[in-house]
Amino acid sequence: MKGKAISIEGLDGCGKSTHAKLLARWLRASGHRVVLTDEPTNGVFGELVKKVLKGELKLPITAEALLFAVDRVQHVKNLITPSVNAGKIVVSERYVYSSLAYQSARGLSVSWVRKINKYAPKPDLTILIDVPTRVSLARIGSRKLDEFEKDLKLQERVRRNYLHIARQEGLKIVNGSRPRGEVQAEIRELVGAIL
Ligand SMILES: Nc1ncnc2c1ncn2[C@@H]1O[C@H](COP(=O)(O)OP(=O)(O)O)[C@@H](O)[C@H]1O
Ligand SMILES: [Mg+2]
Repeated sequence: MKGKAISIEGLDGCGKSTHAKLLARWLRASGHRVVLTDEPTNGVFGELVKKVLKGELKLPITAEALLFAVDRVQHVKNLITPSVNAGKIVVSERYVYSSLAYQSARGLSVSWVRKINKYAPKPDLTILIDVPTRVSLARIGSRKLDEFEKDLKLQERVRRNYLHIARQEGLKIVNGSRPRGEVQAEIRELVGAIL
């Protein structure tokens, strides 16, 4: 039997890593085989994306968007699809919706970003952990901000884009400002409903 692909989206500091780990632990305890993964990946293209995020590699924003898309194609072909086909539950921290929200906030057209990501299959479930930008930035605290995080206005545009895409595409929006136990309980309910 096929497994499931779940993606977790939201601003840095919204709680993606925290909740992906708690979700994986819960799923494993209920006997599922789980692959916990994230984007950008640790592959060759993912490492290039990380350099862009750190400001070590300067590229035109179109080239950046293409690089994210190439990294994702590799992620899908090498890990996500084979794992789902083997019956596993893949939980990915960030996926195609990150590109739609961030790259369009940086001035690219959403339709073009969608086009270059057409090889990324839609996950069975995508959860957007939504928090106001002041909450996400406060949680990041002293963690070094990358190029994309520096600009509060950009963060606000990303959040608006995420909410817009979520409504358009039926992603599940979870209010991430609440205590983590409450947030995780809602996430488990959403995941439980697709298993
Ligand atoms: N619901 C929550 N309430 C308070 N703090 C949280 C909550 N969820 C996560 N955090 C804290 O916020 C910080 C960022 O969380 P993290 O899971 O790393 O976010 P992300 O992966 O989205 O960047 C961490 O220090 C984490 O412990
Ligand atoms: Mg994280």
